[in-house]
Amino acid sequence: MKIGIFDSGIGGITVLHEALKVMPHEEFIYYADSEHAPYGTKPKEEVKDYVEQVVQFLEEKQIDVLVIACNTATSIAVKELRERYDFPIIGMEPAVKYALEQEKEKRILVTATDLTLKEEKYQHLVNKHDALARVDSLALPKLVELAEQNTFEREEVMAYLQDVLAPFDFDLYGAIVLGCTHFPYFKRFIQEIVPEHVKVYDGNLGTIRHLKRVLTNKHLSFSEHGGSIAFYYAGEEDSHNTILNSYLKRLT
Ligand code: SIN
Repeated sequence: MKIGIFDSGIGGITVLHEALKVMPHEEFIYYADSEHAPYGTKPKEEVKDYVEQVVQFLEEKQIDVLVIACNTATSIAVKELRERYDFPIIGMEPAVKYALEQEKEKRILVTATDLTLKEEKYQHLVNKHDALARVDSLALPKLVELAEQNTFEREEVMAYLQDVLAPFDFDLYGAIVLGCTHFPYFKRFIQEIVPEHVKVYDGNLGTIRHLKRVLTNKHLSFSEHGGSIAFYYAGEEDSHNTILNSYLKRLT
């Protein structure tokens, strides 16, 4: 089965990483639109155009299913893409519902890009599940930049995170939700800053489980041998998967 995965850049590799654990023998085509990253700080209409170009590219590769491994692109485009394309399309959703279910009393801090947090899709998600108004939101655009630049130097990352997290009294919080696929690269840094009782959740495994359910319901069969990844970075195939492997290494 051919599975297309794309992101504004390398964030979706954190989703691919989960997919490889659950369905290691499929044919993955990953598209990192790094030429246009970040999406989360750009006007919505501009990002929609980029997303459309990427999905057309993947359609030409004759994918059986598409995973939008980008919260921002999902927020602004999933509905229209589902109307336009015949293959199933799986999007990302911040794990707000899951976090609220796990943490019955304390507050939840949802982190994402500006565009994701501003979108109606996110507002709707929170309104639907957050009856007691326990959810707060925080945009962390610099984490996207740092990940795209392959900058994981402890000092720089910690200085930024300490600064943006300083206003929050984490005694009141039970969980942080990573609502951007670039953020799991920084999970250990976040965990170091917040008290131990604060859990850090991302939606990647949930997305891949959902993907598996959708494919099973469509009677698409999973391979038992082989498997491959074709990795496209800013429009060019990285035929040795050098960039992909350097990021995958950060997640193991
Ligand atoms: C971005 O490109 O700004 C981040 C993508 C995401 O929301 O996952």
